[in-house]
Amino acid sequence: LVVSVIFSGIQPTGIPHLGNLLGALLNWVKLQRDAAPADQLIYSIVGWHALTLPQDPKALSIARRDMLAVLLAVGLDPDRSVIFHQDENPHHAELAWMLNCITPMGKLRRMTTWKSRLAASRNARDDSEVDESLLNVGLFTYPVLQAADILAYRATHVPVGEDQQQHIELCRDLAENFNRTFKGKRALFPLPQHVITSSCRVLSLRDPSSKMSKSSPDLNSRILLTDSPAQVRSKIRSAVTDSTLGITYEPAARPGAANLLSILAACTDEDVPAVAARYADKGHGDLKADVADAVEGLIKGPRAEFERLRKEVGYLAEVAAKGAEKARGLTEPVMKEVRTRVGL
Ligand code: ADP
Ligand code: NA
Repeated sequence: LVVSVIFSGIQPTGIPHLGNLLGALLNWVKLQRDAAPADQLIYSIVGWHALTLPQDPKALSIARRDMLAVLLAVGLDPDRSVIFHQDENPHHAELAWMLNCITPMGKLRRMTTWKSRLAASRNARDDSEVDESLLNVGLFTYPVLQAADILAYRATHVPVGEDQQQHIELCRDLAENFNRTFKGKRALFPLPQHVITSSCRVLSLRDPSSKMSKSSPDLNSRILLTDSPAQVRSKIRSAVTDSTLGITYEPAARPGAANLLSILAACTDEDVPAVAARYADKGHGDLKADVADAVEGLIKGPRAEFERLRKEVGYLAEVAAKGAEKARGLTEPVMKEVRTRVGL
């Protein structure tokens, strides 16, 4: 019997946008629907990762609870999947420490996420020591925490975006390194596989050369789960397209139209070429109207459920407590074995 253990996480850093929904969260729900009964699904709200950047404590604590409401609202079932707050399972931190102690610094310096942080903080003198001194250690070592998140459950599959490829490779390296360094009757950690969650990379509505992101200052660039039908419509109406007549799917030459087509295809679960063919003789206005309808159809149910659930503070606390207990129950035997192998 081959059982999959699927692990994924999301940071509690605000109301998710359409990219988070189509690129991650709705795929978690699909995995839950399609998994074999014996497969384990483990979804974590990773508050410790959020702390690598400055957070307002009050806002973080609300975002943390809201993210649990989001996961339930999109259709994750706490009786089927283990849904919990990372910060309520200290085993993640314990394993991260042990992995830190077998991780070469050079490996972390090669992480593109680290390099881009470094580039962002680079000053005129281009002095790498000065650059590093401005960044916190958490930012440097969070890929190790991410590896611990995964390995603590002996996860076999990690559904995350393409941008996470290098982190999953690091996780496999660390699993291998641990297995080699601390041998037992069998290798303790499976080497987890990266499952690309979705081909749908949602682009910014205002600047289709970049992805839709919560960090853009232009609020019209993204659609939030909490946007009203009127907001959805107006943001899509103001999406940047081109002035060529007719609609074609040409991501490089016509990224705005291509983005709208792939959003529509993702919402309706169709192939992009099939959708594009229907709009060949239509205008951007027709396409935008239909995309707005499709997006509204997609988020309507989850939005209402989220607004209802986020007020159910007692229920959310109960779900969180049960989820954390299940999570700790899964990692305790693994950590027992880890401690024995390292000699503690
Ligand atoms: P953001 O980039 O807005 O900060 P996160 O990095 O918190 O979002 O991403 C959370 C999840 O959503 C990740 O799995 C990520 O791959 C996915 N995701 C984020 N933005 C997009 C996007 N524009 N298109 C598709 N998936 C996305
Ligand atoms: Na990001």
